[in-house]
Formats: sequence, structure tokens, C-alpha cells
Amino acid sequence: MKIIVRADSTECGAAAYEIFAKGIKNGAKVLGLATGSTPLPLYKEMIKSNLNFDNLTSVNLDEYVGLPVDNDQSYHYFMQENLFNKKPFKKTYVPDGIKAVDDPEGVSREYDQIIKDNPIDIQLLGIGRNGHIAFNEPGTPFDSLTHEVKLTDNTIKANSRFFASIDDVPKSAICMGIANIMSAKKIVLLAFGENKAAAVKKMIEGPVTEEVPASVLQKHPDVTVILDQAAAAELDDKYKN
Ligand code: GLP
Repeated sequence: MKIIVRADSTECGAAAYEIFAKGIKNGAKVLGLATGSTPLPLYKEMIKSNLNFDNLTSVNLDEYVGLPVDNDQSYHYFMQENLFNKKPFKKTYVPDGIKAVDDPEGVSREYDQIIKDNPIDIQLLGIGRNGHIAFNEPGTPFDSLTHEVKLTDNTIKANSRFFASIDDVPKSAICMGIANIMSAKKIVLLAFGENKAAAVKKMIEGPVTEEVPASVLQKHPDVTVILDQAAAAELDDKYKN
């Protein structure tokens, strides 16, 4: 794993942008994209850049089950607002959270096929406080493909900050599996803030275990982790540069 530590999230966004811009110039055609607060500094850099995305495809990690695309908490909506409206892509994919209410298995298999047909060149990731990636919670098998996830109480609580009340947070999501994520050629994970520091330490220094989903990234040949000072605070000095 390559580890980059920068002063703050804005600088981390700029460092991530450089990797994406270089990858796109070198022929990357499919970007694996993510939601949450973490990707925003990168998306801001992409929007202000002169890069053209209309020859690119995007494949997002996950979507809540039961939220229509025009619900302002759906990940479809998030992506439109924070990137796609300003930088149109040739084609964008986000799991279908409405169809998944009745047929999560069908939506999952379709999404696996989409990823197979559009192999991901660069995958963007954030990390949850318990080490989850996308919505793959501790205990998710490393060989998992796209699946429906029952969200843990902690994740529901953490994500309730975006909703009017905790009761409005969906109870499940459709999410790429760990094997789908690991199939990407290159992975860039961003983490900011002290509440990510413990998960970051376990991801980088800890044993590779399904109890810390992000620890699987130690097995991927091309991962760059970009951290602000606070998220890097618990790391052994030898990992910081
Ligand atoms: C959610 C998302 C993850 C994201 C995580 C952290 O659970 N499904 O993809 O990495 O939250 O969110 P944030 O970036 O807001 O800290």
C-alpha cells in the first residue's frame, strides 16, 4: 500500500485528483465512484478541472434500498448533485434501489454483470469507522459479490446525520461485494478526521481479517491511501511520509 499524508481534506482531494487525472490521461475508461462526505474534495477538484468525462463510464459502490432516484438522500441524487450534473459521463451506473425492494438478488446479479462488462480501472473508496468499505460490514466474506446488506445500528446512526430523523434512514442497501472492489485495477482510499484513525490503523497495520473489511486492501497490488493528519494520527511513523 502506498500511503500519502496531507495537511487537510482539501489537499487530500488534490492528491487524489492527480492520481485520477493521470489514470484518465493514461487510458482509464471506467471509474468506480463512492458517496459519503469523503469523496467531496476530490469531486470538487474534478469539477473545477478541464478534464473531460464524456468518454468515461462510472460504476458506483452502493445504493439504499427503497429510495427513489429523486430522493435527496439517495446515492443516485448525491452523484447527480455532486458530480454528474457538472461533469457528464458517457454512462453512469448506480444500483437500482427501488427494483431492489422486491428483487435484491436480481439487481445484484445485474450489477455484477455491469461490473464484468465495465472492468473498473480506478476505484475510489472511503472507510467506515468500523473499517467497512462501501456497505460491506465486518464479517462480510472477502469473496462476496454484489448483495443486499442489512445496515448495522452503528452505520444507521452514523448516516442519520444526513436524514431528518434516524427512522428515515433505510435499513438496507445494495452494495458491491469485496471481490468486486478487489477486481479494480487501481484503488484509491481517502479518510479524514480523528474518528477514522482507529479504522485506518487496523486497515494498514492490522491482520488481514474479515472483521476489518478494509484490511483486505493489503492484498491488492495497487492501492493508494490518502489521509489527513487526524486520520493518520494513530499510524506507526514508518507508514507516514
Ligand atoms: C457509508 C458509505 C461508505 C462510506 C462511509 C463513510 O457507509 N456507504 O461508502 O465510505 O459511509 O462515510 P463518510 O465518507 O461520510 O465518512
